[in-house]
Amino acid sequence: MFLKMNEAEMRRAIAHKRDGAELAAQTWHAIVRAYLDGDVDDAQLAALLMACVLRGLDAAETHALTTAFVASGETLEAPDPRTVDKHSSGGVGDTATLIVVPLVAACGIPVAKLSGRALGHTGGTLDKLEAIEGVRTDLEPERFFECVRTAGCAIAAQSERLVPADKRVYALRDRTATVPSRGLIAASIVSKKVAGGAHAIVYDVKAGRGAFVRDVAEARELAEALVALTVAFGRRGAALVTDMNEPLGPAIGTGLEAIEARDFLRGTHRSLRLGAVCEELGSAMLAVAGVRGDLRVALDAALESGRGYETFERMLAAQGAAPGALERLQPHPQRTMLPAPHEGFVVAVDAVALGEAARELIARSGSGAGITVAARIGDAVRAGDPLAFAYGDADLAHGLEQAFVLGDAPPPERPVVYDEIGSRSGDGTETSGTPRSTLETK
Ligand code: URA
Ligand code: CA
Repeated sequence: MFLKMNEAEMRRAIAHKRDGAELAAQTWHAIVRAYLDGDVDDAQLAALLMACVLRGLDAAETHALTTAFVASGETLEAPDPRTVDKHSSGGVGDTATLIVVPLVAACGIPVAKLSGRALGHTGGTLDKLEAIEGVRTDLEPERFFECVRTAGCAIAAQSERLVPADKRVYALRDRTATVPSRGLIAASIVSKKVAGGAHAIVYDVKAGRGAFVRDVAEARELAEALVALTVAFGRRGAALVTDMNEPLGPAIGTGLEAIEARDFLRGTHRSLRLGAVCEELGSAMLAVAGVRGDLRVALDAALESGRGYETFERMLAAQGAAPGALERLQPHPQRTMLPAPHEGFVVAVDAVALGEAARELIARSGSGAGITVAARIGDAVRAGDPLAFAYGDADLAHGLEQAFVLGDAPPPERPVVYDEIGSRSGDGTETSGTPRSTLETK
């Protein structure tokens, strides 16, 4: 049973995978252990990872790798068996977490959300939270679950003690262009969620030119793999495939997105597309947590009553926010309008360019800097109309209007939610992505 992985054994495993064979579960365990122990070096693991990218991993191999990842560190278990977590595959202007976590908590379901930092052109929830004065995200596990218990929800960085193997393997994947493999991605994501201790997990897999996965069919396959793997670990899972062909909410930044979440929750300003995704995500989170009935009505009530906003404030306070810090948040005072060069319809938006520009603006001018999008795909604009506003150093705003492609006719309409995977049967609600009612007033 116990397999010692030395250089010769590893060479054989690489050749096997290279030639299209599957590796046994014990081999995956031995590889992960040997890599952490230093018995297998970066060169050998990188070769294996490239073979995985080219040949793929089947369900059994993905499960074995995930199990080995989970076993590489500590594991937590949320005290309340209804506790739910959510994961987004990464997007631009994706403020959904900051809105939906307190809303679901306000419906009585504990949310223990483990989040990450900005990656490439995409924003990181931890950075958005830390734009609020005093907020800490480096919560030790005990403190994390204590915040969930007292505030209803918490959003924290994953402890270094969870899944150390993924951290090392991910860094090597990043260096060796071996990130894009469905099996490797699923093992990486699900191992962290399983080790984080939530009993139910909802995945938001983004598809489009601003996402890591561009193609909807490919995103659906990843979503299915994530849910199947989650269920194989005895957790409840569901996934949405949502559009990332343009920034989700208008705000792109850290402080700007914290402001967007604040204003959404208290009803000052609500983006339609962001609201639609929050409604679907929130419904899926309540459903996997076992809540039955009309889940959209429950979410609307939490929003309209102000309970969602209060929960957000309570969570921030539990995580160290200075009194009044959320209220005081303001965009950077230097604002540059990006005008439409001529009349037309917005047919495409380079969300990657906008995401990268927002990160540069923040790096140069601080957390109040970034971009807010004024024109959405399908909108008609006249010459000189604002396409977007850049906040912060005006030099960095130069030429950014080129991220918007204008055409003579509006493009075909795209849904916000392409698909939904996972069992919501028995809750009496329909599962179509049709947005409705108060979550999308503007
Ligand atoms: N996010 C992760 O955590 N892991 C991956 O492999 C890809 C995205
Ligand atoms: Ca609604």
